[in-house]
Amino acid sequence: MKIITSIEDLRDQLSGQLRTAFVPTMGSLHEGHLSLMRLARKHGDPVVASIFVNRLQFGPNDDFERYPRSLEADAEKLAREGVYVLFAPSEKELYPEPQEYRVQPPDNLGNMLEGEFRPGFFNGVCTVITKMFSCVQPRVAVFGKKDYQQLMIVRNMTRQLAMPTEIVGAETWRADDGLALSSRNSYLSAAERDEAPALFHCLNTVADNVRTGRLPIAEVERSAMASLAQRGWKPDYISVRKRHDLLAPDAADLEAGTPLVVLAAARLGTTRLIDNLEI
Ligand code: PAF
Repeated sequence: MKIITSIEDLRDQLSGQLRTAFVPTMGSLHEGHLSLMRLARKHGDPVVASIFVNRLQFGPNDDFERYPRSLEADAEKLAREGVYVLFAPSEKELYPEPQEYRVQPPDNLGNMLEGEFRPGFFNGVCTVITKMFSCVQPRVAVFGKKDYQQLMIVRNMTRQLAMPTEIVGAETWRADDGLALSSRNSYLSAAERDEAPALFHCLNTVADNVRTGRLPIAEVERSAMASLAQRGWKPDYISVRKRHDLLAPDAADLEAGTPLVVLAAARLGTTRLIDNLEI
Protein backbone atom coordinates (compact mmCIF):
# COMPACT_ATOMS: atom_id res chain seq x y z
CA MET A 1 0.00 0.00 0.00
CA LYS A 2 1.25 3.47 -0.85
CA ILE A 3 0.83 6.25 1.70
CA ILE A 4 0.45 9.52 -0.16
CA THR A 5 0.31 12.93 1.43
CA SER A 6 0.29 15.31 -1.55
CA ILE A 7 -2.57 15.96 -3.94
CA GLU A 8 -0.20 16.03 -6.89
CA ASP A 9 1.29 12.60 -6.06
CA LEU A 10 -2.20 11.22 -5.52
CA ARG A 11 -3.31 12.42 -8.97
CA ASP A 12 -0.19 10.87 -10.56
CA GLN A 13 -0.74 7.58 -8.80
CA LEU A 14 -4.42 7.36 -9.74
CA SER A 15 -4.24 8.78 -13.25
CA GLY A 16 -6.11 6.59 -15.72
CA GLN A 17 -8.00 4.72 -12.98
CA LEU A 18 -11.68 4.65 -13.92
CA ARG A 19 -13.09 2.31 -11.27
CA THR A 20 -11.66 3.71 -8.04
CA ALA A 21 -13.66 2.91 -4.90
CA PHE A 22 -13.05 5.45 -2.15
CA VAL A 23 -13.57 5.34 1.61
CA PRO A 24 -13.04 8.68 3.37
CA THR A 25 -12.31 8.45 7.10
CA MET A 26 -10.93 10.46 9.98
CA GLY A 27 -8.74 7.55 11.09
CA SER A 28 -8.62 5.74 14.45
CA LEU A 29 -9.87 2.81 12.43
CA HIS A 30 -11.97 0.02 13.89
CA GLU A 31 -13.66 -3.04 12.48
CA GLY A 32 -16.55 -0.91 11.17
CA HIS A 33 -14.16 1.08 8.97
CA LEU A 34 -12.52 -2.12 7.76
CA SER A 35 -15.92 -3.47 6.74
CA LEU A 36 -16.29 -0.33 4.57
CA MET A 37 -12.99 -1.19 2.85
CA ARG A 38 -14.25 -4.72 2.12
CA LEU A 39 -17.50 -3.35 0.71
CA ALA A 40 -15.53 -0.85 -1.39
CA ARG A 41 -13.54 -3.72 -2.89
CA LYS A 42 -16.80 -5.28 -4.12
CA HIS A 43 -17.70 -2.05 -5.91
CA GLY A 44 -14.44 -1.02 -7.54
CA ASP A 45 -10.74 -1.34 -7.96
CA PRO A 46 -8.39 0.07 -6.74
CA VAL A 47 -9.59 0.86 -3.22
CA VAL A 48 -8.40 4.22 -1.91
CA ALA A 49 -8.87 5.28 1.72
CA SER A 50 -8.26 8.70 3.22
CA ILE A 51 -7.44 9.72 6.76
CA PHE A 52 -7.97 13.37 7.53
CA VAL A 53 -9.34 14.90 10.72
CA ASN A 54 -11.30 17.70 9.13
CA ARG A 55 -11.22 20.82 11.28
CA LEU A 56 -14.03 22.41 9.21
CA GLN A 57 -16.64 20.00 10.59
CA PHE A 58 -15.78 20.57 14.26
CA GLY A 59 -17.37 23.34 16.30
CA PRO A 60 -15.34 25.45 18.75
CA ASN A 61 -16.40 23.23 21.69
CA ASP A 62 -16.05 19.95 19.82
CA ASP A 63 -13.28 17.39 20.24
CA PHE A 64 -11.01 18.34 17.31
CA GLU A 65 -7.85 18.52 19.44
CA ARG A 66 -8.46 15.32 21.35
CA TYR A 67 -9.88 13.33 18.41
CA PRO A 68 -7.88 10.05 18.46
CA ARG A 69 -5.05 9.91 15.89
CA SER A 70 -3.19 6.68 15.15
CA LEU A 71 -1.85 6.90 11.60
CA GLU A 72 0.75 4.14 11.84
CA ALA A 73 -1.60 1.51 13.29
CA ASP A 74 -4.31 2.60 10.83
CA ALA A 75 -1.97 2.21 7.87
CA GLU A 76 -1.12 -1.35 8.95
CA LYS A 77 -4.82 -2.23 9.15
CA LEU A 78 -5.53 -0.76 5.70
CA ALA A 79 -2.57 -2.56 4.15
CA ARG A 80 -3.91 -5.86 5.53
CA GLU A 81 -7.27 -5.09 3.83
CA GLY A 82 -5.57 -4.72 0.46
CA VAL A 83 -6.11 -0.95 0.20
CA TYR A 84 -4.04 0.36 -2.72
CA VAL A 85 -3.51 3.95 -1.62
CA LEU A 86 -3.92 5.68 1.73
CA PHE A 87 -4.28 9.41 1.17
CA ALA A 88 -3.31 11.18 4.39
CA PRO A 89 -2.79 14.86 3.64
CA SER A 90 -1.74 17.42 6.24
CA GLU A 91 -4.05 20.34 6.96
CA LYS A 92 -1.63 22.57 5.06
CA GLU A 93 -1.90 20.32 2.01
CA LEU A 94 -5.70 20.19 1.95
CA TYR A 95 -6.33 23.71 3.23
CA PRO A 96 -3.25 25.73 2.15
CA GLU A 97 -5.31 28.89 2.42
CA PRO A 98 -8.53 29.63 4.33
CA GLN A 99 -11.26 27.49 2.76
CA GLU A 100 -13.61 30.28 1.68
CA TYR A 101 -15.46 28.36 -1.01
CA ARG A 102 -17.76 26.00 0.86
CA VAL A 103 -20.47 23.52 -0.04
CA GLN A 104 -23.60 24.38 1.92
CA PRO A 105 -26.31 21.72 2.25
CA PRO A 106 -29.93 22.91 2.11
CA ASP A 107 -31.32 24.27 5.39
CA ASN A 108 -34.09 21.69 5.70
CA LEU A 109 -31.66 18.77 5.75
CA GLY A 110 -28.49 20.44 7.01
CA ASN A 111 -29.94 22.19 10.06
CA MET A 112 -32.04 19.40 11.53
CA LEU A 113 -30.97 16.60 13.92
CA GLU A 114 -27.13 16.61 13.91
CA GLY A 115 -27.11 19.97 12.13
CA GLU A 116 -29.17 21.55 14.90
CA PHE A 117 -26.76 20.42 17.61
CA ARG A 118 -23.56 20.84 15.56
CA PRO A 119 -24.00 24.05 13.53
CA GLY A 120 -21.77 24.06 10.46
CA PHE A 121 -21.05 20.33 10.73
CA PHE A 122 -22.54 19.36 7.36
CA ASN A 123 -21.05 22.38 5.64
CA GLY A 124 -17.65 21.09 6.80
CA VAL A 125 -18.44 17.53 5.73
CA CYS A 126 -19.77 18.51 2.27
CA THR A 127 -16.81 20.80 1.67
CA VAL A 128 -14.15 18.23 2.55
CA ILE A 129 -15.92 15.45 0.67
CA THR A 130 -16.19 17.61 -2.45
CA LYS A 131 -12.49 18.40 -2.18
CA MET A 132 -11.57 14.75 -1.55
CA PHE A 133 -13.68 13.64 -4.51
CA SER A 134 -11.94 16.23 -6.66
CA CYS A 135 -8.56 14.74 -5.63
CA VAL A 136 -9.46 11.03 -5.83
CA GLN A 137 -12.03 11.14 -8.69
CA PRO A 138 -13.78 8.00 -7.41
CA ARG A 139 -16.41 6.10 -9.35
CA VAL A 140 -17.86 4.85 -6.06
CA ALA A 141 -17.56 6.06 -2.46
CA VAL A 142 -18.63 4.16 0.64
CA PHE A 143 -20.17 5.79 3.73
CA GLY A 144 -21.49 4.07 6.87
CA LYS A 145 -25.17 4.14 7.78
CA LYS A 146 -24.06 4.88 11.34
CA ASP A 147 -23.89 8.51 10.17
CA TYR A 148 -27.29 8.24 8.54
CA GLN A 149 -27.90 11.93 7.92
CA GLN A 150 -24.37 12.39 6.57
CA LEU A 151 -24.93 9.52 4.11
CA MET A 152 -28.16 11.09 2.89
CA ILE A 153 -26.68 14.57 2.56
CA VAL A 154 -23.63 13.32 0.65
CA ARG A 155 -25.85 11.25 -1.62
CA ASN A 156 -28.10 14.24 -2.37
CA MET A 157 -25.07 16.49 -2.89
CA THR A 158 -23.49 14.20 -5.49
CA ARG A 159 -26.83 13.91 -7.30
CA GLN A 160 -27.58 17.64 -7.33
CA LEU A 161 -24.03 18.61 -8.31
CA ALA A 162 -23.91 15.87 -10.99
CA MET A 163 -20.76 14.39 -9.48
CA PRO A 164 -19.78 11.17 -11.27
CA THR A 165 -19.54 9.22 -8.01
CA GLU A 166 -22.02 6.62 -6.83
CA ILE A 167 -22.60 6.66 -3.07
CA VAL A 168 -22.88 3.27 -1.39
CA GLY A 169 -24.24 2.95 2.16
CA ALA A 170 -22.78 0.31 4.49
CA GLU A 171 -24.52 -1.33 7.44
CA THR A 172 -23.47 -0.27 10.93
CA TRP A 173 -20.93 -2.55 12.60
CA ARG A 174 -21.86 -3.35 16.22
CA ALA A 175 -20.10 -4.89 19.19
CA ASP A 176 -21.69 -8.10 20.54
CA ASP A 177 -23.65 -6.05 23.10
CA GLY A 178 -25.13 -3.83 20.36
CA LEU A 179 -22.97 -0.71 20.73
CA ALA A 180 -22.27 0.80 17.30
CA LEU A 181 -18.52 0.95 16.71
CA SER A 182 -17.19 4.49 16.71
CA SER A 183 -13.76 6.04 17.14
CA ARG A 184 -15.28 8.13 19.94
CA ASN A 185 -16.05 4.97 21.97
CA SER A 186 -12.39 5.18 23.04
CA TYR A 187 -13.36 8.20 25.20
CA LEU A 188 -15.67 6.03 27.37
CA SER A 189 -14.59 4.93 30.84
CA ALA A 190 -15.07 1.24 31.69
CA ALA A 191 -18.35 2.03 33.48
CA GLU A 192 -19.58 4.17 30.59
CA ARG A 193 -18.66 1.45 28.10
CA ASP A 194 -20.89 -0.97 30.10
CA GLU A 195 -23.73 1.55 29.96
CA ALA A 196 -23.28 2.59 26.31
CA PRO A 197 -25.32 -0.24 24.67
CA ALA A 198 -28.40 1.27 26.39
CA LEU A 199 -28.59 3.70 23.46
CA PHE A 200 -29.10 0.87 20.96
CA HIS A 201 -31.56 -0.88 23.30
CA CYS A 202 -33.48 2.35 23.52
CA LEU A 203 -33.66 2.57 19.70
CA ASN A 204 -35.00 -0.99 19.62
CA THR A 205 -37.69 -0.09 22.16
CA VAL A 206 -38.69 2.92 20.06
CA ALA A 207 -38.79 0.76 16.92
CA ASP A 208 -40.98 -1.86 18.69
CA ASN A 209 -43.36 0.81 19.97
CA VAL A 210 -43.66 2.43 16.54
CA ARG A 211 -44.37 -0.97 14.97
CA THR A 212 -47.19 -1.73 17.40
CA GLY A 213 -48.60 1.76 16.79
CA ARG A 214 -50.27 1.86 20.21
CA LEU A 215 -48.78 5.22 21.24
CA PRO A 216 -48.36 8.47 19.29
CA ILE A 217 -44.81 8.80 17.97
CA ALA A 218 -44.15 11.99 19.93
CA GLU A 219 -44.93 10.11 23.13
CA VAL A 220 -42.67 7.20 22.17
CA GLU A 221 -39.83 9.65 21.54
CA ARG A 222 -40.46 11.53 24.79
CA SER A 223 -40.50 8.41 26.90
CA ALA A 224 -37.28 7.13 25.25
CA MET A 225 -35.55 10.45 26.03
CA ALA A 226 -36.82 10.30 29.62
CA SER A 227 -35.65 6.75 30.16
CA LEU A 228 -32.14 7.55 28.88
CA ALA A 229 -32.05 10.69 31.04
CA GLN A 230 -33.04 8.59 34.05
CA ARG A 231 -29.99 6.40 33.43
CA GLY A 232 -27.75 9.48 33.54
CA TRP A 233 -27.55 10.28 29.81
CA LYS A 234 -28.09 13.74 28.32
CA PRO A 235 -30.04 13.06 25.12
CA ASP A 236 -29.94 15.67 22.33
CA TYR A 237 -32.65 13.95 20.30
CA ILE A 238 -34.38 10.66 19.70
CA SER A 239 -36.46 11.13 16.63
CA VAL A 240 -38.49 8.96 14.27
CA ARG A 241 -38.16 10.12 10.68
CA LYS A 242 -38.97 9.02 7.16
CA ARG A 243 -35.96 7.28 5.66
CA HIS A 244 -36.08 9.03 2.29
CA ASP A 245 -36.10 12.68 3.45
CA LEU A 246 -35.59 12.55 7.26
CA LEU A 247 -38.77 14.56 7.82
CA ALA A 248 -41.18 13.59 10.60
CA PRO A 249 -43.88 11.18 9.40
CA ASP A 250 -47.51 12.29 9.51
CA ALA A 251 -50.57 10.09 9.96
CA ALA A 252 -50.81 9.44 6.21
CA ASP A 253 -47.17 8.26 6.14
CA LEU A 254 -47.84 5.86 9.01
CA GLU A 255 -51.01 4.63 7.34
CA ALA A 256 -49.12 4.07 4.07
CA GLY A 257 -46.28 2.18 5.78
CA THR A 258 -43.63 4.69 4.64
CA PRO A 259 -40.19 3.31 5.64
CA LEU A 260 -38.97 4.91 8.86
CA VAL A 261 -35.75 5.24 10.81
CA VAL A 262 -35.18 6.31 14.40
CA LEU A 263 -32.12 8.47 15.00
CA ALA A 264 -30.54 9.37 18.32
CA ALA A 265 -27.73 11.43 19.78
CA ALA A 266 -26.95 11.52 23.48
CA ARG A 267 -24.12 12.38 25.80
CA LEU A 268 -22.78 9.83 28.25
CA GLY A 269 -20.42 11.71 30.54
CA THR A 270 -18.37 13.86 28.17
CA THR A 271 -18.81 11.55 25.18
CA ARG A 272 -21.46 12.26 22.57
CA LEU A 273 -22.71 9.10 20.86
CA ILE A 274 -25.00 8.83 17.84
CA ASP A 275 -26.84 5.81 16.49
CA ASN A 276 -29.89 4.93 14.44
CA LEU A 277 -32.08 2.00 13.50
CA GLU A 278 -34.22 1.43 10.43
CA ILE A 279 -37.70 0.42 11.57
O1 PAF B 1 -17.69 10.21 8.84
C1 PAF B 1 -16.54 10.69 8.92
O2 PAF B 1 -15.59 10.06 9.41
C2 PAF B 1 -16.29 12.09 8.38
O3 PAF B 1 -17.42 12.89 8.57
C3 PAF B 1 -15.85 12.09 6.90
C4 PAF B 1 -16.93 11.51 6.01
C5 PAF B 1 -14.57 11.29 6.75
C6 PAF B 1 -15.59 13.53 6.45
O4 PAF B 1 -14.57 14.12 7.18
